[in-house]
Amino acid sequence: MSDWSTLRALHAATRDRPILALMDDPARVGRFSVQADGMLLDASKTGIDDAALAALVALADAAGVGAAREAMFAGRPINATEGRAVLHTALRDPAGPPLVVAGEDVRPGITATLARMSAFAEAVRAGAHPAAGGPVRDVVNIGIGGSDLGPAMAAAALAPYGDGPRLHFLSNVDGAHAADILRGLDPARTLVIVASKTFTTIETMTNAETVRDWLVRGGGDVGLQVAAVSSATERTARFGIDPARVFGFGDWVGGRYSMWGPVGLALMIGIGPARFAEMLAGAAAMDAHFRTAPLARNMPVMLALSGMWHAQVAGHATRAVLPYDQRLSRLPAYLQQLEMESNGKGVTMAGARLGVASGPVVWGAPGTNGQHAFHQLLHQGTQIVPAEFLIAARGHEAELAHHHRILVANCLAQSEALMRGRSDAEAEALMRRAGLSEAEARRLAPHRAFPGNRPSVTLAYPQLTPFVLGQIVALYEHRVFVEGVCLGINSFDQWGVELGKERAVALLPLVEGRAEAAPAADPSTAALVEFLRRG
Ligand code: F6P
Repeated sequence: MSDWSTLRALHAATRDRPILALMDDPARVGRFSVQADGMLLDASKTGIDDAALAALVALADAAGVGAAREAMFAGRPINATEGRAVLHTALRDPAGPPLVVAGEDVRPGITATLARMSAFAEAVRAGAHPAAGGPVRDVVNIGIGGSDLGPAMAAAALAPYGDGPRLHFLSNVDGAHAADILRGLDPARTLVIVASKTFTTIETMTNAETVRDWLVRGGGDVGLQVAAVSSATERTARFGIDPARVFGFGDWVGGRYSMWGPVGLALMIGIGPARFAEMLAGAAAMDAHFRTAPLARNMPVMLALSGMWHAQVAGHATRAVLPYDQRLSRLPAYLQQLEMESNGKGVTMAGARLGVASGPVVWGAPGTNGQHAFHQLLHQGTQIVPAEFLIAARGHEAELAHHHRILVANCLAQSEALMRGRSDAEAEALMRRAGLSEAEARRLAPHRAFPGNRPSVTLAYPQLTPFVLGQIVALYEHRVFVEGVCLGINSFDQWGVELGKERAVALLPLVEGRAEAAPAADPSTAALVEFLRRG
């Protein structure tokens, strides 16, 4: 049995011990890393020692991670505030045994939808489902949040596999986004996918109407060229979308967990159903590992435990995700929704105030670009930012293998430098050896020293293939799940986004100059509205 105060005591007793000292034990890396289906997660460059790991595992055990995991995979309504099951895992295991939710086996529906998506994707790719002006050349996916970030992130990640029409992702209600995407596209050769679970989201519906008008003006055929990803079939019909091109999914798939099903349609058209299936297989492999490996040897659990050690125990408010993989440039944005919309909650399942910090702020950018921007703060800033590095053994550009070797060296150098640091004395000695005077070396030493002892974890994988991307995303999904269970919160609702949506609807009449239809605004908001209306 373990609790947060035990963990805090363990942390307080060891916080000043250098992580490097833990490396004196050559077997440590084996105990603090986990391998699964060709992927390696190394959590040894953290301050977590054997006692802390045992206490973290005990905490996860006591929180009921094992039972909660089974409840999720079995389709029980673990999203208690919305009374829903959480079954995105079923989307990547369509051939699994019967899975009954609310009295109905969901597998046949998953298989049938996947088959319809595949047939449509093949037809679009082959030109057998053309647009009014000929074979589809571009696909515009209109959606936001979970109906955008997953497929957009994956399309960039899997660019080497893109052998279908070009993919574009329109999300922001800012007209600049629509204008920039539509410029240069031929309305008579473009397929539009309106992806919205609810088909009410204001950004998506505004963009959908704008793009539909653009299509009609440019000689496109709405009946032929617009598909929908939604279960709101009455609304899709009212919009003019042929039911044959509407792809729905159950309420047991949350928006930010939805890229494995119809929300992935644009991606499937871009890379083809076979590659899409490989991505599902990668995620299913991670599911199987997560479901069966003991907590202490379980990759998502290990990632979650390191996350909680840093956020809830050590009190580090942010974590950086640093993919040394240019094609994962959208991964930080994707993980911001996955992690912060899931675990940015202040109350427990029972409605009590959370006694520990909620999930941390997640941010990041690809290496090596970040090194020339914000890594200064990671190395010498006063706050500690635990970092999560991602790196492939090889890139797709065999002819540019030397680039990849430089990339790998930089990635490893960063985690090593964060851990090692450089003392004032070492900095001074280096400068003296470089010919600086005693006085100058002493003056500059504090500026050129590094505190070190900054933790990181590294995820290493063979190559960013569809299978590996599936593994990576499922790994992060399950990490969020484990952290949510340990915090005792519901990771699957998102009530925190509602208030802002309501206020936007309320303020629109004021912004439009129909003050009579708007409730009174506070003086700050009213002054801003007035300034903005003056133009
Ligand atoms: O921002 C809240 C949210 O509900 C997300 O969870 C969701 O992914 C997004 O809006 C889009 O919702 P929809 O698919 O219904 O348009």
